[in-house]
Amino acid sequence: MPLVTTTEAGVPIQGPSATLIYDDWYPALRTDTLRKGKLAKAMLLGFPLVLGRRSDGRVFAMRDSCPHRGIPLSEGWFDGNRVTCRYHGWEFEPCSGRCELIPSLSSHDHLDATRIYATAFPCEEQDGHAWVFIPGPGSKGRSPGAKPPDLAKFGTRFRTAHLAADLPCNVDHGIIGLMDPAHGPFVHQAWWWRSRASIREKTKKFEPIPEGFRMSAHAPSGNSAPYKLLGVYGQPVETTIDFTLPNRRTEVIRCGEKWFSSLTTVTPVTASTCRIDVIAAWNVFYYVPFLTPIAKFFGAKFVRQDQETMIQQAEGLKHNPSLMLIDDADKPAKWYFALKQARLDGTGKHPLDAPVELHWRS
Ligand code: FES
Ligand SMILES: [Fe+2]
Repeated sequence: MPLVTTTEAGVPIQGPSATLIYDDWYPALRTDTLRKGKLAKAMLLGFPLVLGRRSDGRVFAMRDSCPHRGIPLSEGWFDGNRVTCRYHGWEFEPCSGRCELIPSLSSHDHLDATRIYATAFPCEEQDGHAWVFIPGPGSKGRSPGAKPPDLAKFGTRFRTAHLAADLPCNVDHGIIGLMDPAHGPFVHQAWWWRSRASIREKTKKFEPIPEGFRMSAHAPSGNSAPYKLLGVYGQPVETTIDFTLPNRRTEVIRCGEKWFSSLTTVTPVTASTCRIDVIAAWNVFYYVPFLTPIAKFFGAKFVRQDQETMIQQAEGLKHNPSLMLIDDADKPAKWYFALKQARLDGTGKHPLDAPVELHWRS
């Protein structure tokens, strides 16, 4: 369950806003929340959405606003095929948004209801997320192009888990917090992960990939317990971590036949708040009972540590302090801002023209 970030008095905490990247896919909610005949609400990039699942299984996302008078469509009814507005009963086919019926029309009317559309967004189900393509304010009907990303899997037998947490900061702080290597020993101190005393110098290779960068395949840090556990298979362990716009971090760990894969996204809920989602799949220790709840427990603790830190950070950001990015530990954050700017300007300019090595202590 996402954790709400409010002060003790219940006031939402949030820092300054960020420029948002439209015309891309974002995860709106988990599809196991889409029950038969029920409507669910979500917020993406400041758009209120209503989502559901048609009786044929297809998921849909509409703007949560009736085109007639603007009442939220989520206040209405859904029979598995049509969404009915609770104010005047207009009925909409939810995947296209097309109006199929206006009950008040009489034989004297010439209005063709089917020429009226509620706003429906492209929506696809993938790895248990309902992904929604959010077009930019000016780009009416622009095609969604590529499909939403999928979680890499290497075989048919695997376990999965999902974690989410609301973050009180804008998406930029959420993302640079996600790719920041230097906070680990301070924020994620734990016997099973690593301690402050284990800080040592690291060298990591990065290479450019389309709209992102890759931490090249490497043997993961020897000072963290989960990776040590993986070592019991006695084969070399390799990790590849990619970041790609607008908000995606993928990590694949492979050790012979065994693998662990995750996709982490930081999604703008509004211009000043975001949500982190982690979906993971693995066949490591497939036969160990209770591993999924144990993995979820430790994963949740990890995400909670990031979330608590960002709640504290949001307190500071309220006063708009000036900030800094330092080399090399904040280099990935600098690349993120450059990649984002290139997308927004349409220049396609990549901040990396060749593989580079970064050094930091963590
Ligand atoms: S406001 Fe929805 S039908 Fe009138
Ligand atoms: Fe973290």
